[in-house]
Amino acid sequence: MMTSTSETPLRPAQASPGEALIQMRQLRKVYRKRNEEFLAVSDVSMDIHEGDMVSLVGPSGCGKSTLLKILAGLHEHDGGTLQIGGPNNVFNPGRDVGMVFQQPVLLKWRTILDNVLLPADILGLNKKAATARAHELLDMVGLTGFADKLPYELSGGMQQRAAIARALIHDPKLVLMDEPFGALDALTREKMNLEMLRIWGETKKTFVVVTHSIQEAVFLGTHCAVLTAGPARMADFFAIDLPTPRHLLLKTQNEFGEYVRRIYDLLGVD
Ligand SMILES: Nc1ncnc2c1ncn2[C@@H]1O[C@H](COP(=O)(O)OP(=O)(O)O)[C@@H](O)[C@H]1O
Ligand SMILES: [Mg+2]
Repeated sequence: MMTSTSETPLRPAQASPGEALIQMRQLRKVYRKRNEEFLAVSDVSMDIHEGDMVSLVGPSGCGKSTLLKILAGLHEHDGGTLQIGGPNNVFNPGRDVGMVFQQPVLLKWRTILDNVLLPADILGLNKKAATARAHELLDMVGLTGFADKLPYELSGGMQQRAAIARALIHDPKLVLMDEPFGALDALTREKMNLEMLRIWGETKKTFVVVTHSIQEAVFLGTHCAVLTAGPARMADFFAIDLPTPRHLLLKTQNEFGEYVRRIYDLLGVD
């Protein structure tokens, strides 16, 4: 369980039944520099259940990365409450979070296999079991046969898939992705969206993925949190009730367009 500073009323969020893995209530984050204060996240409340795929969408600077860093235990929040892992569970971000960034950030002198093994090395997991798992994960992300390659021998999309395998090696409860496909071309990005949904389906883990693409947020999410900038705040949190597994043609359907439009309205785009 993480810090809890005050009891605040429950904001209505259309969450699935059962106990939430993550409970946020009026979460607030202020960055302080000398005498200046900057409100980066204000009044963010949501419930995330095990197995959810939550997309966080909003314009640049609205606090998406800040929120993800709070979930990853890299930043403290200044107000509201955050409970991860349920009231009786201990949540250890180092062990229980897998993180994927916009750039794959692979170590260029380590092979793909050794890059995937990095969190296992840091956590001191059994090498033999971790290596077997790394090979399974490389198969799962479509990198069979690339274990002994160095990062520069792989394309950007393949490197990002290695980064996803690395985020899963220590079997985390929660996978956090910060604009993971922002650096990829449009077609590779669409393919990676499908890959990611398949991986999410196979691992049955809880994913939170940050994107500034409204279409991507709707396509990926079982739930979507919409954040706005100036002032930074949460505009809405809702379930995305679209058929699964998702196919790219879903993007041509009216029901998909209705969710996209709902987010456009929230963000004041017309
Ligand atoms: N370490 C920091 N110190 C001060 N301000 C920050 C820091 N990190 C982010 N900010 C500011 O907080 C706001 C939200 O940033 P961020 O969470 O990175 O937004 P996003 O990921 O949605 O683009 C931005 O205005 C940014 O300039
Ligand atoms: Mg960001």
